[in-house]
Amino acid sequence: MSRKVLITGASRGLGYELVKVYHSNNYDVFPLVRNEESAYKLSIEFPQKCFPIIADIGQDNCKDIIKTSLELHTKEIDIIINNAGVSGKEYQIEKVTSEEMLELFNIHCLGVIRTVQGSLDSLCNSSNPRIINVSSRLGSLTKMSSDEFKDRYFSYSYRIAKASQNMLTVSLYQELRKKGIHVSSIHPGKLTTGTASADADMEASEAARYIFEWVDSLSMRQSGKFVEPNVGDMPW
Ligand SMILES: NC(=O)c1ccc[n+]([C@@H]2O[C@H](COP(=O)([O-])OP(=O)(O)OC[C@H]3O[C@@H](n4cnc5c(N)ncnc54)[C@H](OP(=O)(O)O)[C@@H]3O)[C@@H](O)[C@H]2O)c1
Repeated sequence: MSRKVLITGASRGLGYELVKVYHSNNYDVFPLVRNEESAYKLSIEFPQKCFPIIADIGQDNCKDIIKTSLELHTKEIDIIINNAGVSGKEYQIEKVTSEEMLELFNIHCLGVIRTVQGSLDSLCNSSNPRIINVSSRLGSLTKMSSDEFKDRYFSYSYRIAKASQNMLTVSLYQELRKKGIHVSSIHPGKLTTGTASADADMEASEAARYIFEWVDSLSMRQSGKFVEPNVGDMPW
C-alpha cells in the first residue's frame, strides 16, 4: 500500500519541491493549494498519485474541505507537512499593524490548527503518523534573545507567529503522543524562495530532500523537538 502525505503551500517554493520529492519516492501526494490554477498545474505535472486540495488555511472552512477531500481518496494519511506561510513586513514597533499581526498569526498558527483538525481522523488510521510544522530559526526565543541576529531587521509579525507555532507544536506533542502521533517543528534552512532572507544560501529542492530523508527516519522517540534536518536540534 502506498504511503501518503499532505503538504500545504504546495503551489511554489519549498512546498512544491516537497511534492516533487515525495511523488518521486512513490508516495500518494495531497498538495494543498489556494486556487484552481495551482491545482490544475500540479495535476498536469503529476497525473498519477497526486490529489490536489483547494483550500485557504486562513479560513475556518479549510478544516472541512481537508477532511472531505482526504476521505474521498483514502482512509489514512501518514504525514502532514504544515508548510504554507507568508512573510511579514514591519520591524519597527511604531509601524506594526494589528492587521499584519493577525494575518500572520492566522496563517502560521491557526492555519496549522485547522489543517490538523481536518486530518486528525485520517492520521489516526496510519501506522506511523507524523505532523511536521515548518517553522523558522526566527521563531526561536533562545536564538532571538541571544542576539544571534543582532542588527538584522526581521518583522515582529513573522517572529511572533513562528514562536506561537512552536508552542503549538509542543502543545500538539503533549496531547497527540497518547495517540502515537509524532509532532515536530523544523527550520528548513535559509532558502532562496519567494520569502528569502538576505543570507539565503540553499535551494528549496535541496531542503526538500533533507526533509524527506529526515522525516522518513523519524520515530516517536524524536517527537516534540525543533530540528534543522541534516544539521541537528534547534533550541526552542
Ligand atoms: N524561505 C526561507 O528561507 C524560510 C526559512 C525558514 C522558514 N521558512 C518557512 O518555510 C515555509 C515555506 O516557505 P517558502 O519560502 O517556500 O514560501 P513561498 O515560496 O513564499 O511559498 C509559500 C506557500 O504558502 C502558500 N500559502 C500562503 N498563504 C496560504 C494560505 N492562507 N492558505 C494556503 N496556502 C497558503 C502559498 O500559496 P500561493 O501560491 O497561493 O500564495 C505558497 O504555496 C513557510 O512556512 C516559511 O515561513 C522559509
